[in-house]
Amino acid sequence: MPKVIVLDTLAQEGLDLLDQAPGIEYEVRTGLKGEELRSALNEFDGAICRSGVKITAESLEGNTNLKVIARAGVGTDNIDSKAAARHGIVVMNTPTGNTISTAEHAFCLMMALSRNVPAANQSLVERRWDRKKYMGTQLADKTLGVVGLGRIGLEVAKRALAFEMRVIAYDPFVSPERAAELGIELSPTVPEMLPHIDYLTVHTPLTPETKDMISAESIKLLKPGARLINCARGGIYNEEALVEGLKSGHLGGVALDVYAEEPCTDSPLFGMENVVCTPHLGASTEEAQTQVAVEAVQLVVNYLTTGE
Ligand code: MLT
Repeated sequence: MPKVIVLDTLAQEGLDLLDQAPGIEYEVRTGLKGEELRSALNEFDGAICRSGVKITAESLEGNTNLKVIARAGVGTDNIDSKAAARHGIVVMNTPTGNTISTAEHAFCLMMALSRNVPAANQSLVERRWDRKKYMGTQLADKTLGVVGLGRIGLEVAKRALAFEMRVIAYDPFVSPERAAELGIELSPTVPEMLPHIDYLTVHTPLTPETKDMISAESIKLLKPGARLINCARGGIYNEEALVEGLKSGHLGGVALDVYAEEPCTDSPLFGMENVVCTPHLGASTEEAQTQVAVEAVQLVVNYLTTGE
């Protein structure tokens, strides 16, 4: 009977589906690392994870049993896919389940930055009534730059258009005709877009091309007061450059949900004025977690029972 290991906390709906899967046994073992993880992975035919566990080449060393790993989420950057391929292990993800939740979180951070929501809330927690200090800016008539018009980027762009923003995007895979249909202007490069935007949001994976895509040099190209949002992957914005951009006053604000190193509990950005940070919560909604859990279980069960 095929056995599945669940390596991170998974929504109950996913576990219920595993309970109902005929001919599948499963165990939930979270928080594994090192030798404990390596030996556990070799006992199972399938594994399901979120982003907590790190499945490295070492954790797959000597593995002769595992056939499939499903990531309940989009990014598979916590799994060494090349090492998995060397062992004949298929790596799958659930690319659609958290699109709307992540897009909404990016939008939520943009609004929180514009209206100083976290700082204003904190002022009341400290019993201060600071109406003048927290003057905000409207989104309507501002320009949003979007890097990457994939599933999430497109949902952010649609919401921005509904808020009467102008949207400029960089995405080499989207045709000018398709962009025009959507009411989005395309920019041929990221640097060419930067001088024209009030807000920037990125929706790409972290790759050698996107690492440090927003550097000290690119920040200089932005309008003074521009605000930057990242709900994609840490490292796309160079964090030191963000700190310098804020200190110099050139950046109007930064909102981050993701960090170059995660978990991240210590950053010079935390507590800086005009900075809003959350601990990688883009996909943390009941709806998204249910959907990615169910999809990941379906992928693993299908693969182990039908080979597809
Ligand atoms: C993803 O890649 O699915 C998101 O970043 C959410 C997550 O890592 O949990």
